[in-house]
Amino acid sequence: MNGNSDLFKQEFKYYKGRAVRPDLSKVIDFEKRGIKSSIFLEPTEADCERLGFISGSKICCYEFPANPGLLVVPNPFTVDGQRVWISKCLRCYPMPPNPTNTSTAFPEVSHGSLQSEPFYRNLRWTTLGLHHDWNSKLYDPEHRSPFPECLKELATRMAHLMGFCDYRPEAAIVNYYAMDSTLGGHVDHSESDHTQPLFSVSFGQTAVFLIGGSSRNVRPTAMFLKSGDVVVMTGESRLAYHAVPLVLPRGDDKPWGGTATGDEAWNLLADYVSNHRININVRQVFPLDKSENLCT
Ligand code: OGA
Ligand code: MN
Repeated sequence: MNGNSDLFKQEFKYYKGRAVRPDLSKVIDFEKRGIKSSIFLEPTEADCERLGFISGSKICCYEFPANPGLLVVPNPFTVDGQRVWISKCLRCYPMPPNPTNTSTAFPEVSHGSLQSEPFYRNLRWTTLGLHHDWNSKLYDPEHRSPFPECLKELATRMAHLMGFCDYRPEAAIVNYYAMDSTLGGHVDHSESDHTQPLFSVSFGQTAVFLIGGSSRNVRPTAMFLKSGDVVVMTGESRLAYHAVPLVLPRGDDKPWGGTATGDEAWNLLADYVSNHRININVRQVFPLDKSENLCT
């Protein structure tokens, strides 16, 4: 491939914006009016209660003509829902026995600042359930820890609401981004079943997310992913190139709520998400056995 046809790389470099500040006016922003959603999800009251969704209204879900199979659900979470998920990502998921990128021991921090702890300063990822081996790019069925029940429920219920009834989440990667972190263009093909959706839930600061097609010479769509937004890669888009070239400050508006004076446990987490982005990436790895029918 010659350099000029790598439209994915061109766009990645443009939005990474190290040389020139990128113009963000063409980046899809779900908070701006004028974009019509085509699908509405109807969670039950019990779903809303358990998953932290806003109750009493349908949830908008967007499709993209240029990206068949891609679905985006802009923040369905309440303020409390966001706080609960952010807390799980910082307090539970990176705990032993789950592997992380850092060899520093997991600290129990009750006051002060998470960011003064080397563990949280170094934290870039943790894996849950079946652990992805970053070197072999494979999943070893022997190398697993329990998949968190609540995360399984979130992904499974969303899958059901979208009509994917035989989906079984088995592995998750939680990514922790500092404001200058990026994630290069890639396809998630380590899983052996690519017919099932991939769920990606983001919290904290905003990302510019790029998603293209099956080759790097497809010009990717650029969209903002804000706190609470859920991306679902199904069908063709399950194996599409995607990347995060830029993390941006969210500004004053915080969907996880203002800092509550006196709530020190939350304030520690609020301080962390004030300059980080968190992404939970949930995958089914293996196909179901023919005998397993989850669609009942
Ligand atoms: C990944 C991934 C996207 C994001 O972890 O494979 O593509 O929005 N993450 O952080
Ligand atoms: Mn990915």
